[in-house]
Amino acid sequence: MNPSSIDLTAFNTFGFAVSASQYVPVRSARELQNYFKAAPDAPCFVLGGGSNLVLTRDIDVTVLHMLAQGFAVYEESDSHVLVGVQAGHVWHDFVMSCLNNGWLGLENLALIPGSVGASPVQNIGAYGVEVKDCISKIKAWDRLHHKWAWLAAADCAFGYRDSVFKHQFLDDARTQPRYVISKVFFKLLKDPALWQAKIGYGDVAACVAQIAGDAVVTAQHIAQAIIQIRSSKLPDPQVLGNAGSFFKNPIVAAQVAQKLKAQYSTMPMYPQADGTVKIAAGWLIEQAGFKGLREGAVGVYDKQALVLVHYGQGSGLELMAFAQRICAKVFEQFGVQIAPEPIVY
Ligand code: EPU
Repeated sequence: MNPSSIDLTAFNTFGFAVSASQYVPVRSARELQNYFKAAPDAPCFVLGGGSNLVLTRDIDVTVLHMLAQGFAVYEESDSHVLVGVQAGHVWHDFVMSCLNNGWLGLENLALIPGSVGASPVQNIGAYGVEVKDCISKIKAWDRLHHKWAWLAAADCAFGYRDSVFKHQFLDDARTQPRYVISKVFFKLLKDPALWQAKIGYGDVAACVAQIAGDAVVTAQHIAQAIIQIRSSKLPDPQVLGNAGSFFKNPIVAAQVAQKLKAQYSTMPMYPQADGTVKIAAGWLIEQAGFKGLREGAVGVYDKQALVLVHYGQGSGLELMAFAQRICAKVFEQFGVQIAPEPIVY
């Protein structure tokens, strides 16, 4: 490691020990603008909470660490509120602040690791809600036109764990994203009479019923239930390195799903609005025999096969090689291609 380099172990939730040769903490939109005005064409690496990231090598371009905190109300009516949140704000802290302020809509997304600025990139989602459902607009630095850009939610091409931010790059190697998100604006509900609890997913309803008892179900009850469910199924990155779901649930054509269902009647499937079918990758990986399996410093979490874990002293390369073996085995057994969710550097 050269003397000016910085250790990134604490800045990626897998806890891989890599370093960055140049590191710039970004604490405000003004700092971001100043950086890009001074170095408009320099390659960089935008780091958020580091919770959806596999670092396989030292980073040889400037790391911009998005650390701007805080949120403010921009518009308010009797029924809704428009809140702008800085990219570096911790996602879960914002969800909790929403609950404290009586702003409704994000409660199902409690305890998701990472930062607010990263949330639209992969359109984070859990328990029947995706962040796109509440995003109004986004302020981002446009590295192509060297100025601030405002993207309405409709311009973001949100899909399952997908958005425009995963597709627009300045270079052919796709290492230099065009947009660097600075602020995310959420339109949230204020009037509880207009709010509907979303408890249709998995065991959420049962858990909420247990928490709420005879009381009318509130967003607080839902958040509490989600926190309970997530804590029981997903490892805490402070304790065991991980990046949440490592694989996306694959989406297949209806005919493919039909054939698979005929062969494997218990395979969990979720029909999509466009006629395609989403399959539970966790089930495929478990059936392929990987759940709880450890290989060297990495492994598959024993309570949720979608999650890969790092026990320490391992590397991102080791993890990616392991992930490739899982993909190959799942493909061999089921003919279904699964793919990683995190960004790999
Ligand atoms: N399953 C297994 N074995 C496993 C894991 C799951 O058989 O080891 C089966 C379950 O029994 C269930 C189905 O797979 O029938 C779905 O499992 P679960 O409800 O746990 O959800 P998931 O599809 O595994 C997705 C998201 C999670 C999100 C949950 C809840 C993706 C890639 N993952 O997981 O998101 O919390 O739904 O909504 O879409 C994340 O992205 O980091 C993440 C944790």
